Amino acid sequence: MACASFAKLNAASSQWIGQQSFTQRTGSSSSTRFATRRVSVPIRAGAYTEELVKTAKTIASPGRGILAIDESNATCGKRLASIGLDNTETNRQAYRQLLLTTPGLGDYISGAILFEETLYQSTTDGKKFVDCLREEKIVPGIKVDKGLVPLPGSNNESWCQGLDGLASRSTEYYKQGARFAKWRTVVSIPCGPSALAVKEAAWGLARYAAISQDNGLVPIVEPEILLDGDHPIERTLEVAEKVWSEVFFYLAENNVVLEGILLKPSMVTPGAEHKEKASPETIAKYTLTMLKRRVPPAVPGIMFLSGGQSEVEATLNLNAMNQAPNPWHVSFSYARALQNTVLKTWQGRPENTEAAQKSLLVRAKANSLAQLGKYSAEGESEEAKKGMFVRGYTY
Ligand code: 13P
Repeated sequence: MACASFAKLNAASSQWIGQQSFTQRTGSSSSTRFATRRVSVPIRAGAYTEELVKTAKTIASPGRGILAIDESNATCGKRLASIGLDNTETNRQAYRQLLLTTPGLGDYISGAILFEETLYQSTTDGKKFVDCLREEKIVPGIKVDKGLVPLPGSNNESWCQGLDGLASRSTEYYKQGARFAKWRTVVSIPCGPSALAVKEAAWGLARYAAISQDNGLVPIVEPEILLDGDHPIERTLEVAEKVWSEVFFYLAENNVVLEGILLKPSMVTPGAEHKEKASPETIAKYTLTMLKRRVPPAVPGIMFLSGGQSEVEATLNLNAMNQAPNPWHVSFSYARALQNTVLKTWQGRPENTEAAQKSLLVRAKANSLAQLGKYSAEGESEEAKKGMFVRGYTY
């Protein structure tokens, strides 16, 4: 197996091995004689390589996907405000406890992305959230970027901070039980995107990915191409192809092991303000075309973000992408498209907790079926069909 051979090469050190020589036999004019020739294959082997490959495969396992609940305190505050709750640590903990202690969640969810506060929190009974996850065989993950700030010299675009001190933070997150990481940067189509913004996004993601792998965390690589704009789907395809080609260029330059990463792309859709909506079949066709052109099959999993689509839309689109076998596991890593109905059901009332957990299971199961290409939207609630797009949304 690839992971075993990576690890055997240099299990104890974290270094670039590069240009390993292999002997390959090639045919000659005589069927009984072989010439030997040296073929160089660059291999990066680090202390964690075998584990990274295993973690990525576990997260990308059939019928499962990621629950993203890594909202910063400010963004979590917006979620809580939508049901009339104050943005206090107690309320954030109560909400995260509801989500992370849902019985049976692990049947559909393989990983949960947490915000730093949640990684170190426990239930009101004193059980660590990471232990609640492990019991359900859900891998704990951590958002490691420090958010977006304006990018000087660009067309009102932004760049993502967080590389300073990332190695030492990642070491601590690993000790606390995290096994994968997330870094979200954005690309805006109406703002250009400028060559500078795309290059900065791709380089930042690649540096983060290399640092995460060096510290035992599988990096989720997420250049979110925002839904904002009135452009047609063809324009999104063009931009997505450009962005992902740069991302893979810099991932290679940073010697990132592709078998130990996961991607979190936006689906290729028309801009949210485009005059026509696209069907799930069209979105699946454009998205898979883009991915097949840009993503090597060495990458184990594609875990989509929902980006402001309604819960049902996000599930239908995922289902359409899984109607035929793909070179990678094609699944979900939704925040809004898994949490919307849960919040509306909960309303911050303890007596609604069980019903809210059931509604999380409904969404998780629907997306699990979509991962297997077996979902039908029959019986879905009106609430789940409501779009959540917000112009200029900040996460
Ligand atoms: P949404 O599914 O709400 O777009 O979340 C994206 C994200 O990056 C959460 O981790």
